[in-house]
Amino acid sequence: MKTYRLVAFVIAWFIFSLVWITPLTAGNVSQRSTLRGKAIYEKHCAACHGADGRADTPIGRLLRPRPRDFADPIIMARLDDSQMIAAIELGRAGTAMPSWREILSPADMFDVLNYIHSLQQPLPAGITHAKLDILVGEHVYQKYCSVCHGDKGNGQTPLGRGLFPNPKDFTSMDMAGISDKRLMFVVEYGKPGSAMAPWGSRLSPEDIRRVVLYIRQTFERHDIK
Ligand code: HEC
Ligand code: HEC
Repeated sequence: MKTYRLVAFVIAWFIFSLVWITPLTAGNVSQRSTLRGKAIYEKHCAACHGADGRADTPIGRLLRPRPRDFADPIIMARLDDSQMIAAIELGRAGTAMPSWREILSPADMFDVLNYIHSLQQPLPAGITHAKLDILVGEHVYQKYCSVCHGDKGNGQTPLGRGLFPNPKDFTSMDMAGISDKRLMFVVEYGKPGSAMAPWGSRLSPEDIRRVVLYIRQTFERHDIK
């Protein structure tokens, strides 16, 4: 009888610890990391990046380029953790973002990154990952491409009209015959002899994939004349 009770106790304890203690401690670790990250962030980062991560601070507004908006899920989808850790560790050359290598330990950097993630607002309801890709692609297009290729994708912009060759008209029928791979290649490496610059150093492969997706979905015509 005694052994039976002991075994039952051990099993109950085992289940209890599995169900209760594991998530509790796991939760505490990440909560503690976020709290430590918050303190570091408020001390070193908030002056530029803003307490809410939106970079809408007196300093943030003056900077060119401006600090990234950590609250915007579409903008944040363009950054992955390794890029962010690299930016924190090494700084970003040619911008106001300093290197924190001398001031923060690797654990500090991890904690502050955790905190930055907690500033991100949720995706609007009903937005799937596929839709997010398109929204990020649109953001990239508006920011870097529409000045030449235009909001309608036909290249009819004041700048585009003055270029020779003209920017590619994404609404032209021959787009269907150009592969995604080819389009992504041109975006990455540019087109020599034209105003189409290489974007590979400014856009990640993910950004390039998404902007091509956006161009196809938004401008390409599927009607047959
Ligand atoms: C003096 C202003 C300033 C301070 C202080 C500052 N940043 Fe930045 N940070 C910037 C700017 C400006 C950028 C944008 C760089 C760019 O566009 O390439 C940036 C970019 C970043 C990025 C990369 C995002 C990207 O665009 O790739 C991360 C992550 C980041 N900062 C984290 C931090 C953290 C963490 C701290 C505090 C430990 C901090 N920053 C402090 C100005 C600042
Ligand atoms: C300064 C103006 C300019 C900007 C900015 C620009 N482009 Fe272009 N783009 C051009 C021109 C001009 C061509 C046509 C080149 C040709 O026909 O040889 C072109 C061609 C292209 C093509 C067609 C490739 C092909 O196979 O014919 C793609 C795709 C493209 N651009 C995507 C982009 C994307 C994506 C961006 C933003 C990240 C961008 N462009 C920004 C001027 C620009």
